[in-house]
Amino acid sequence: MCGIVGYFGSKNAADVIISGLEKLEYRGYDSAGIAVNEGNELEIRKFSGRLSVLADDVKENPMKGNLGIGHTRWATHGEPTIVNSHPHFNKDKSIAVVHNGIIENYLDLRKELEQDGVEFLSDTDTEVIPFLIDKYYEGDLLDAVYKAVGRLRGAYALGILHKDHADEMVAVRKDSPLIAGVGEGEFFVASDIPALLNYTRNVYYLDNGEVVHIKGDKIEILNDKKEVVDKKLNKVTWDIEAAEKGGYKFFMEKEIFEQPQGCKDTLERRLDKDGHIVLDDIKMTKEELENLENIYIIACGTAYNAGVLGKTAMQKFMGIPVYTDIASEFRYNDNFVNEHSLVILVSQSGETADTLAVLRDSKEKGARVLAVTNVVGSTIAREADDVFYTWAGTEIAVASTKAYTTQIVSLYMISLNFALKMGKITEEYYFEMIEKMKELPGKIQEVLDNKDEVYEVAKQIVNKEHAFFLGRGIDYSLAMEGSLKLKEVSYIHAEAFAAGELKHGTIALIEEGTPVISLATQQNLFEKMVSNMEEVRARGANVIAIAQRHNKEVEKVSSHTLYIPDSDDLLSPVIAVVPMQLLALMVSDMKGLDVDKPRNLAKSVTVE
Ligand code: M6R
Repeated sequence: MCGIVGYFGSKNAADVIISGLEKLEYRGYDSAGIAVNEGNELEIRKFSGRLSVLADDVKENPMKGNLGIGHTRWATHGEPTIVNSHPHFNKDKSIAVVHNGIIENYLDLRKELEQDGVEFLSDTDTEVIPFLIDKYYEGDLLDAVYKAVGRLRGAYALGILHKDHADEMVAVRKDSPLIAGVGEGEFFVASDIPALLNYTRNVYYLDNGEVVHIKGDKIEILNDKKEVVDKKLNKVTWDIEAAEKGGYKFFMEKEIFEQPQGCKDTLERRLDKDGHIVLDDIKMTKEELENLENIYIIACGTAYNAGVLGKTAMQKFMGIPVYTDIASEFRYNDNFVNEHSLVILVSQSGETADTLAVLRDSKEKGARVLAVTNVVGSTIAREADDVFYTWAGTEIAVASTKAYTTQIVSLYMISLNFALKMGKITEEYYFEMIEKMKELPGKIQEVLDNKDEVYEVAKQIVNKEHAFFLGRGIDYSLAMEGSLKLKEVSYIHAEAFAAGELKHGTIALIEEGTPVISLATQQNLFEKMVSNMEEVRARGANVIAIAQRHNKEVEKVSSHTLYIPDSDDLLSPVIAVVPMQLLALMVSDMKGLDVDKPRNLAKSVTVE
């Protein structure tokens, strides 16, 4: 996610901004840029790649001036190139803008501005903003910003400079984070607190719709009606490391709690005015879809587990068989990929070596390759024919959490879109599913709000050597993710079993007190699952159930039940995975392990 830093004071603005941007590196980025008011002009420098490229350039050729804005970009619209990086500017470079968020109506605004004669340089949504401000500018920067912002739909944190306003900066917040800082005769704006902590601990937390107006020796916070708001100046007492985690103890925890937002962003920002799903860069026509002989979903680890759920949705909606495999197996197996195949690769990082190898091999065989990835400009995104980005935001913890839920949402969206195009589902069903998916963020939040219940279960598991996860159908796929999470961060031996398969061997492992996390979220398999739970309970297992709230029956066979809000069976994994993620996190923390960097693991596996 992008990072913003703005500064006005007596220090060299570029130095302060770059040191602030360094503290926001955890947000992830692919390019960086800065604009400084050097008197009669705005000096703008931007580079793709690491922030150090910008820092080295500024060291060699210092920027003079004490008013500036800077940005690290996590690409959403357009590749991570220099021209797409921020700050963006109008034709005569009198206005510079940095932006974090997404402007949903940028295509309409772009068309309108093009009709006015504007020529855009970049592929970004952001570039419309400096031109809009320019359109309304009549000597009053603040006024022009209000008028321009009134035209924007979407999410934005903005930092804005004008060359003729050498002591003025305007910043705006709506649905993207932004704070303002106050030092000794100096002012700051930033996406997050760590960017300021070397300079000040006095901050204003901005609410949606608020505008920061820094002019001369004054800072004012204004509301959307341009009235001054009487805001409290807060003192930050955290240290830098804690601040980067936004007050959470671990990145994994922060990322688990970011899931409602990640799922909302991935889905709702893809819906057009009529509520249809817009698949960004996926250009498959009805004919191309109908000509497919087979569809494969290939990935590794958690991304594979999400792929298995994607397969279920795709088969259900499109009514055709879909095959899944682990990339490291698929690449060496005799597979039937050919020019009539669609190969869907799922990868958070977009750099996983085995998944990338499948991509190249499939392309050689003439298949169409579609990537579902979280990192814009990653190798898999660049080499695939079609790309769909999960908008989970940067994932730092090695254990993947928010990538998983947004991958499922993405695969369901793709499946619904394809199925409607092929006439395999009715519009009515399509919209009904979208409406149900829109409820997911709220339902995930409910589970997060009840995290203390998971803590009780974590206490029962922390000293165990083994734990089993049971499920049938979709719940079996979900059990695989639950057991992977627990084993990778807590080092407890955990296995997922298809509950109906137990009696063919695995049940021999059950002994007095063995924790068995039993998923019973599927209505059509509920009774069968309850019988399987009874079977293990009768052999001494400590049965911990996860079930939809209305299924109270489950309490007869469980010692503890974690309820999730009722939902469509197909969508329940996006909710039911959350208590399992929390469980893994809590057990790891109780054991004093390195939650974010478990032993022997790397975030991105770029070797075979
Ligand atoms: O970046 P990718 O999604 O391609 O990574 C795939 C796996 O390495 C990854 O999901 C791994 O299993 C995670 N550590 C699981 O939490």
